[in-house]
Amino acid sequence: MKSISTKNSVVYFNTDVYSKLNEYIKNTYPSKIFILVDTNTHDYCLPQFLSNLKSEEIIVEIMEIPEGEDHKSIDICTGVWEALSQYNADRKSLIINLGGGVVTDLGGFVASTFMRGINYINIPTSLLAMVDASIGGKTGVDLGALKNQIGIINEGKMVGIDVDFLSTLPQNQMVSGFAEMLKHGLIYSKTYWDKITNLEALDVSDLDLLIYESVVIKNEIVSNDPTEQGLRKILNFGHTLGHAIESYCLENADRTPLLHGEAIAIGMILEAYLSYRICNLSEKDLNHIKASIFNTFERTYFNSNDINAIIDLLQYDKKNSHGVVKFVLLESIGKAKIDCIANNDIILEAFNYYKS
Ligand SMILES: NC(=O)c1ccc[n+]([C@@H]2O[C@H](COP(=O)([O-])OP(=O)(O)OC[C@H]3O[C@@H](n4cnc5c(N)ncnc54)[C@H](O)[C@@H]3O)[C@@H](O)[C@H]2O)c1
Ligand SMILES: [Zn+2]
Repeated sequence: MKSISTKNSVVYFNTDVYSKLNEYIKNTYPSKIFILVDTNTHDYCLPQFLSNLKSEEIIVEIMEIPEGEDHKSIDICTGVWEALSQYNADRKSLIINLGGGVVTDLGGFVASTFMRGINYINIPTSLLAMVDASIGGKTGVDLGALKNQIGIINEGKMVGIDVDFLSTLPQNQMVSGFAEMLKHGLIYSKTYWDKITNLEALDVSDLDLLIYESVVIKNEIVSNDPTEQGLRKILNFGHTLGHAIESYCLENADRTPLLHGEAIAIGMILEAYLSYRICNLSEKDLNHIKASIFNTFERTYFNSNDINAIIDLLQYDKKNSHGVVKFVLLESIGKAKIDCIANNDIILEAFNYYKS
């Protein structure tokens, strides 16, 4: 599979991953290599990764963090910064993030801030990280329940996507990643949307090409607007309400936390409804989007207290300016529009539509 060049980096696929990574290490000769994993990628991915890594006698240290979104925090960053210091990392050290979006987001942020920035490479191991989180240079952590409030945009030196890692990824995590692929179709390519919504089942063997195409879409959007002045905002489709729902479920003891993609899937149905009411998305497309998402994702129940609390959380969304909540909506499947405004009555209608 051909590599994909991004603004300051390159994405390699499958067999190329290790040859290019080893070549990079040979050419740049880092002072030390630090591999960041979480508890799962330590067990499921690290052995395969290490067996392919040629570290040229450079010392390799493994840094492990607990798995899960709860640990995408400044506290965990502090632990990683301290480990780097303790093991004598310097400005010529390299961090390799081997994991899902939590590891690539947090590891990228740690690398971008340690000693004012050291080199890092992403080796995504979850579907979501392959098609989305590892691409485009957004790094960061949550502030309490508020998603991605602290962070920096800074691309790593390379991304290596080895689809084999998906063989140990739990099915619910596969489905979560699939949400971002659906999003790429909805905001940018009707052809891609048609392709992924006509899949019989989510099977690793079909995924190679679909992952590749998803990376192409994300990269095209990011390359045209690396600092998110305009176009890049379309990647937030489904995320304004999706993030509020994700935060709400994370901080509420009596709600089961949702995976990122599960929350975004709900957000996409709600924001498709807003698109129908505000941006002339056709009713046919709206119903098709809802049916396609419910093909893969289960319905979640929200009562009126939940919905009001979720609406209150919208004020923390990073796309807001001057206190106004801004949505990305769809004019049609494959065509998104940024900076849309929706009042609370229409948002309540959207929750009713989701429920119906
Ligand atoms: N930076 C960006 O542009 C961007 C884009 C989208 C999402 N994100 C972020 O990504 C995060 C979600 O990513 P995620 O869904 O990968 O979460 P995650 O990193 O928590 O991974 C999901 C789970 O799968 C496990 N796992 C990962 N790879 C595995 C493998 N190969 N085998 C077995 N288990 C494996 C992890 O340990 C974890 O338990 C969120 O924090 C989100 O905000 C960032
Ligand atoms: Zn997302």
